[in-house]
Amino acid sequence: MNISLQSKTVKPLKALILAGGFGTRLRPISCTRPKSLFPIVNKPLLQWTFERLAKNNITEAILAVNHQTEVYIKQHRIPKCELHIRYSRDPLRKPLGTGGPIKKAEKLISHDNPFLVLNGDIFADVNYTEVLNIHKEGKAVATIALHRAEDPSRYGVAELAEDNRIKRFIEKPARGTAPTNLINAGVYVLSPKILDYIPNGKTVSLEREIFPKLADKGTLYGYAFEGLWMDIGKPEEYLQLNKILLDSFTNKRKLRSRARTEVKNPVAFDKGVSIGEKSFIGPYAVLGRDIVVGNNVHIRDSVIFPGVTVGDSSSINGAIIGEGAIIGRGVKIEKGCIIGDYAKIKDNVSLAENISVCPAKEVSESALTPKCIY
Ligand code: GDD
Ligand code: MG
Repeated sequence: MNISLQSKTVKPLKALILAGGFGTRLRPISCTRPKSLFPIVNKPLLQWTFERLAKNNITEAILAVNHQTEVYIKQHRIPKCELHIRYSRDPLRKPLGTGGPIKKAEKLISHDNPFLVLNGDIFADVNYTEVLNIHKEGKAVATIALHRAEDPSRYGVAELAEDNRIKRFIEKPARGTAPTNLINAGVYVLSPKILDYIPNGKTVSLEREIFPKLADKGTLYGYAFEGLWMDIGKPEEYLQLNKILLDSFTNKRKLRSRARTEVKNPVAFDKGVSIGEKSFIGPYAVLGRDIVVGNNVHIRDSVIFPGVTVGDSSSINGAIIGEGAIIGRGVKIEKGCIIGDYAKIKDNVSLAENISVCPAKEVSESALTPKCIY
């Protein structure tokens, strides 16, 4: 899809990416990187977003970050896809929420043109032009891309009128009380007028404090779309997004593997992955850069971050393994486990379902009930 959002007479659309949240539900992996840097099939989510923006002829992206996320993002050296990247930082000790960072970036946003805002933790196959068109037609202050969800209570929910106006917007309604299953997909076109609604220097929730007001005034519009959409806020969603994308393409990269390794597609291997004999990889295994896997290892339904070592006769099923972790021999890691970066799981340890291990922690005893080992 290559859609132009520019014409010779109109200034190019700028995008602001909200990337300063703390990713609490993805701990302990999110203790050491922001959600926007989680690899999705071996490519940081933010890179997918940059690529999508560039394909849509957007030339400038403002990253609304906090001090820590800015450091992590810069360290990652994500290809910029020819975008002009600028940073707008929340004040120290004062996260500005989802609205405050937009006001904070006021000087970087064009004042005579609508702009795009994206939640930084979503993967959204949205046609930005369609959102922009609805925005312009309605002379809206804000236009939200909307997606259908089975359980809308975890999201912002919109009640949409026939003319694309949002009659009501409720952020995270109590379970069973949502008026529709149309949810806020975290992609907005905003008119500069939005800046009049957000106080300076304050923590503001766009979804709780601003959108309901705009809905009452009749200046909030919605665009329902059907493409792939996912928020990676929870571990199971993160794994699910990897799975969906794995299904959509196969990795052709050659493995440095010895004889009799069985690879069951779909799988993805980044550069420098090496696998021993009689190991079974897949289906749905994503192996990051420079991973070393021993003999007789089973890995499926899991994402393994770069630099991990997995010893002989271990099995990993339905887990997320953080960067540089060392998994010993004869280790068993079950569904829902999350192993923090550089953690060390010693030989013959079994981790039952839903166990998290903090970064750099050494685990020498098996754990059989869900808990966080710190
Ligand atoms: N700069 C900055 N400062 N960014 C922030 C802050 C902050 O204080 N707080 C959150 N963000 C960023 C997060 O990094 C994320 O990319 C985005 O804002 C949304 O915040 P989340 O914390 O992930 O919100 P949510 O997932 O509970 O709900 C939001 O997203 C849903 C869709 O995934 C809401 O927008 C819902 O209405 C929406 O349905
Ligand atoms: Mg989120």
